[in-house]
Formats: sequence, C-alpha cells, structure tokens
Amino acid sequence: MCNFKRREFIKLNALGFAAIALQLSTVSSYAQQANGYLGKLGTNTKLNWDAFLEKITQLSQSQHQLPWDQKMYTQKVKQLLLQCNFPEFENVKREMDNYENKNLKWFEASSLHHEVDFQISLFQFEKGEYIPHHDHPDMTGVINVVSGSAHLRNYNRIEELGSRTVTTNGQKIIKQSCILKEVSNQIAKTGDVSILTSNDGNIHSVMPNEFTQLVDVFTPAYTENTNPKWYKVDEEEFYKQQEKLFVAEYY
Ligand SMILES: [Fe+2]
Repeated sequence: MCNFKRREFIKLNALGFAAIALQLSTVSSYAQQANGYLGKLGTNTKLNWDAFLEKITQLSQSQHQLPWDQKMYTQKVKQLLLQCNFPEFENVKREMDNYENKNLKWFEASSLHHEVDFQISLFQFEKGEYIPHHDHPDMTGVINVVSGSAHLRNYNRIEELGSRTVTTNGQKIIKQSCILKEVSNQIAKTGDVSILTSNDGNIHSVMPNEFTQLVDVFTPAYTENTNPKWYKVDEEEFYKQQEKLFVAEYY
C-alpha cells in the first residue's frame, strides 16, 4: 500500500505539483481567516492578503460607531500593516511586476482593494517624483513604506488668513490663505508606517528619495464627492518667526 502511494506520488507531473501547491495556498489562506475569526491571530502572526483584508474589514466598521476613535483605529491598522509582507502577496507582486513608469514626473497608483468603508492602494514613485502638499478630507490614512524611503511631512491647519480671487485660463479660482503647523517631519524607511487622521496631520507631502513603493489604507474610501485641496506652502521662513508655522495657500 505504501509503495503504491509513493509510486502514484512520483507519477505526478509538474502541473500536478503546481495544482497541489495552489490548493495548499488556498487552504492555508482559509485556515488563517478561520483563525482570525476565532481570535487566534496574534500581533506577531504574519498575515496573508486574505487575513489582512478580513481584519481591516472588521476594524473599519468602527468608523460607524460614533465617536470614532481614529487614533486607536489607525494604530490597529498600522499593526496589521506591520504583519504583512506585501511584495510576497500574489496580487501585490503582480502589480509590482507589471509596473511601468507611464506618467513621467508623477507617481503610478494601483488599486489593491476598494470598498465604501476603506480602500488599499499601491503607489510607486521614481526618484524625483513626489506628491505636493494635499489633504484627505474626513479620512484617515495609514502609509506603509514597502520599499525605498521618503521624506514625509504632516501639517494641521490652525488659522485662516483670508482669500483672493485669481483668474486662470479664463476661470476664476478662490485661493484661501492659512497658517499650517508642521506636526511631523520624518524620513520614513522601508518598513516604517506613517499615520494621518481627519484632524491630525491630515495635510501632508510625500517626497521619496529613491524608487519607492507605498501601500496606503484610506478610511473611508475616496468617492466622486471627495474634494482634496492642494496647498502651496511657503517653507522659506516661519510665520512671524514662530517655529514650525508656515503660511500656505490652498484651493
Ligand atoms: Fe496623501
């Protein structure tokens, strides 16, 4: 009987092995999800994509229980991100392998998952590409540097200074002036995680120092009504010599 089993096993061709490997991967994925449901996943457990998604789906429900503790939520998302090795995940690896620098001087964005309550995106930057100061209205963002490094700066808007109307290409645009306070300034390296909430560090800029890949979890997801603002920050000098305060214009 044992000999029969061994002979049959040896007869399997490469395709057979591949099929088995695929099944094992699926079984392992279901097993991790099941363990997650039973509360058996610890903070040291390495997560696969399905378990990660399952956990974020559960966590993101907290936004509907007001008041939403965004600090606690984003810390939990950070913990989950640290338990993932994204380049190993099949769907992420596919996006990375198929990467092309289609937009010169602008990053490439891929959606890894999108639903109303949250979305997960992959951003890939060439050296020299960056995202200028912008905000994420009524959202939290948790950013994991998967490869490379980036200079990340976060700000809070602390005071409005007024507005002016400018005409660009025949269109009138109202530009608001404000004072921003820098609340975080860091060089984030591979493996680091940066957090912004709707009222803390929500305005930020992302300046990679080399080819860099980021995985971001935004909660809730962007909709067609999301209206991010772009800021031009005067970083040459502090506002009234007050450290970390800058004048900015936004529209
Ligand atoms: Fe952003």
